[in-house]
Amino acid sequence: MPRFALAREAEPCRSAKAGLPTKSAVRAGSRPAVLQAHSGYAMTSHAMTEDETGVVAELTIFLDRPGATINRNLYGHFIEHLGRCIYDGLWVGEASEIPNERGIRSDVVRALRQLEVPVLRWPGGCFADQYCWRDGIGPRPDRPRTLNTHWGGVVETNQFGTHEFMDLCEQIDAEPYVTGNLGSGTVREMVQWVEYMTSDVDTTMVEMRRANGRNHPFKLPYFGVGNENWGCGGRMRADYYADQLRRYSSFVRNYGGNRVCRVACGPNSVDYEWTETVMSRAGSDLDALSLHYYTVPGTDWNHKGAATGFSESEWIATLAKALVMDELLTRHGEILDRFDPDRRVSLIVDEWGTWYDVEPGTHPGFLYQQNSLRDALVAAITLGFFHQHSARVSMANLAQMVNVLQAVILTEGDRMVLTPTYHVLEMYKCHRGATLVPVELPSPNYTFGSVQIPMLYATASRSAQGRLYVSLVNVHPHKAARIVAPRLRGPVSGRLLTGASMDVHNDFDHPEAISPIALSQVDLGSPDSSLLLPAKSVLVLEAD
Ligand code: AHR
Repeated sequence: MPRFALAREAEPCRSAKAGLPTKSAVRAGSRPAVLQAHSGYAMTSHAMTEDETGVVAELTIFLDRPGATINRNLYGHFIEHLGRCIYDGLWVGEASEIPNERGIRSDVVRALRQLEVPVLRWPGGCFADQYCWRDGIGPRPDRPRTLNTHWGGVVETNQFGTHEFMDLCEQIDAEPYVTGNLGSGTVREMVQWVEYMTSDVDTTMVEMRRANGRNHPFKLPYFGVGNENWGCGGRMRADYYADQLRRYSSFVRNYGGNRVCRVACGPNSVDYEWTETVMSRAGSDLDALSLHYYTVPGTDWNHKGAATGFSESEWIATLAKALVMDELLTRHGEILDRFDPDRRVSLIVDEWGTWYDVEPGTHPGFLYQQNSLRDALVAAITLGFFHQHSARVSMANLAQMVNVLQAVILTEGDRMVLTPTYHVLEMYKCHRGATLVPVELPSPNYTFGSVQIPMLYATASRSAQGRLYVSLVNVHPHKAARIVAPRLRGPVSGRLLTGASMDVHNDFDHPEAISPIALSQVDLGSPDSSLLLPAKSVLVLEAD
């Protein structure tokens, strides 16, 4: 059972950023509706008093002001030929003793189907700009062994290529998003790859695809015209990339019935100049612009901090850095608004997530890190920002799906665990495709050392079936909050993700150390009832 710190006086209210401008009304003296867990875990064994919860905040839900549709693709994923993401994590080969379907491991596919992954990006990342797609087609034993110069200098066996990727997408029912090689590949290579995948005319490319076992064209809705070309993808200046984009993308064509969205390489986090230049020089040669932002808590890339066993100052630093995403979406969005007021071009955050030092004893180039409650909170807050910017942001891809960075799944041999980030994405999937409902949650600050951030975050949506979903996050590691929500009427059910420590995580010996708790229904109909939001928690509520 979580312990709550004794109340101190609530700090001045501040916008939770996930809602409309704030007002500071907080109703004192209301009764907390303590949701009881089906599992026997109880958030508290007695009604909380205000002294115990310390903080009371009023959630206002603007049901009469529906916003944009929350694109389901905001819940997308990313896989790269990096470390054990693809090999081990997804691909084990048909001869493996690990149960698999045409070489793709079945346990992972089952978990991903449960997550309902809408879209999957591949093959990189930095790897994309060194990838020769022809190495990854044809009989597997004949495929060349190449060097993965970006990630660990290991041999790339090319056993997982275009057909295996498309098979994975079909097995998990996700739309494919392929990133082309602009950094070291030719226009012809890129054009032929798109033709190979999507055309149905009897050309040599199409005959080759058919000979490799795929008669009908693949559907390819998204194609990246390079990746991080300001860095690993060729160290280009923005104006040079803009010219290359014009050249390459003019040959990325629609074949047959396929309609491909050309995603241009966008900025590295705060590089607003890049967005400005690409939009002004090549705005009509792209359909979407990507943005990459990683949450790196440390002082620099050599001292990023550990994924577990961290201090409270690393906890707050991580969450504070996650908040940068909101500003990035706002400011890059403003630039897009100037060049594209009709919102033809969308913003795609095709790499995001936490990035820590690798786990001790693991290959430094494999980017393998554990995943704790802290990551779940980062994911929950970030998804709220994506919802908030739904009018411009059409897709986001968490980096990366399995065994790399902020993974939703970790594997070791034939074992698999779901991470706290997996659980948040699964809890939040109710928001996908729903209509954004604006909310306002004035939040006290959470302060540690010299860092101060809002303590509470909220996002809400209304599904096509009329269900209201409200997600709440409390980042304070010690202090619970009582949420007064006058507009949350009728029976409300919920699922809660929390744990006893800041770095609670699942590992192969303790795969259920943290998982969502289903809470039984409460009636919040009475005007003086309130909800308890424990310290360091994510709560997703469903109501009429
Ligand atoms: O996700 C890991 C790497 O981060 C990707 O390869 C690259 O695009 C980014 O720098």
